[in-house]
Amino acid sequence: MKALVLSGGTGTRLRPFTYSMAKQLLPVANKPVLRHCLEAVRGAGITEVGVVVGDHHDQIRDAFGDGSGDGVRITYIEQPWPAGLAHAVLLARDFLGDDDFMMYLGDNIVAGGLTAAASDFGAHRPEVKLLVSKVDDPSRYGIAEFDASGRVFGLAEKPAEPRGDFAIMGIYFFTPAIHEAIARIRPSARGELEITDAIGEVMLAGGVVTAEEHTGYWRDAGTVDDLLDCNRFVLSGMRGETLGERDRHSVLRGEVLVEPGAKIIRSEVHGPAIVGADSVVEDSQIGPGTAIGRGCLLSGVQVEGSVLLDGAAVRGACGIRDSLIGRHAEVIGGRGRSGTRLRIGDHAFVELAA
Ligand code: G1P
Repeated sequence: MKALVLSGGTGTRLRPFTYSMAKQLLPVANKPVLRHCLEAVRGAGITEVGVVVGDHHDQIRDAFGDGSGDGVRITYIEQPWPAGLAHAVLLARDFLGDDDFMMYLGDNIVAGGLTAAASDFGAHRPEVKLLVSKVDDPSRYGIAEFDASGRVFGLAEKPAEPRGDFAIMGIYFFTPAIHEAIARIRPSARGELEITDAIGEVMLAGGVVTAEEHTGYWRDAGTVDDLLDCNRFVLSGMRGETLGERDRHSVLRGEVLVEPGAKIIRSEVHGPAIVGADSVVEDSQIGPGTAIGRGCLLSGVQVEGSVLLDGAAVRGACGIRDSLIGRHAEVIGGRGRSGTRLRIGDHAFVELAA
């Protein structure tokens, strides 16, 4: 079985970060989202991976190369404009050949691995197998209706009035039957070739489509809040270790990973948290759910539940929470304020009022 990882798209809901960076390269627990996806694919025993790329494709190639660093073999497939998930499959036709494949949307973070789902698909080979998960806001997703045996009888893409609350996760298993179905569909009202429509076509042609509920953690890291949630989740499963330095005036509580070359000086860090390589944290309080990238400087800062990208510098700013701070951005001031939420793009400068 092959895998097709979709890593295009414009990431409009993650602006301003996606003006300068592919959304799949935004870090969750100091690792690009796409690396978490490739780990899940590799974990399911798949090593032949097509990665569909759009804007910022050069950054993705630079970060992942031929895939050997991640234990996979990557073939890049360019999607010149985001014309839908089924369009991406169409472009990947040569790479996929007549093999079964797992399609994985490159901004999905899932817990628990996909090995069991992949081997169940291999054993039963329905034309399509979907993974679904219960959500509170079904109109944001593709929705599947299925019977007690898991056989799907209804599908709708982002319905205004959803019938049920099982969202189609961004992880699908396909036999080559999907290609003929894609050839029969037309663009939707939003102008895209929808994979949900193609799966509907498989059903119309009498193909078997099944759904399996995934009960563990799953998020599509498509917005800042979801990305921060994924970060908190992944950090909560991480083991702490001090590979950098901590002075005797500093306290680390819970699982805290201090990467090589990082320095913690007169500070308190409450895990789960990561302080990235070569970062300096001084006179600061770092709260749970925080991932500090590489080469950051935090001085006199109080922050929790936040992600700081590489090279960010924050000085004298207290009460920062649930924030995303871009590469080499600088934030100063704001001492004494609490509950400050920031979304600051790469190289931005912000001075908070005292
Ligand atoms: C896509 C699919 C949708 C699915 C979702 C999962 O939507 O079209 O059916 O539920 O991914 O993340 P998108 O988020 O790309 O709009």
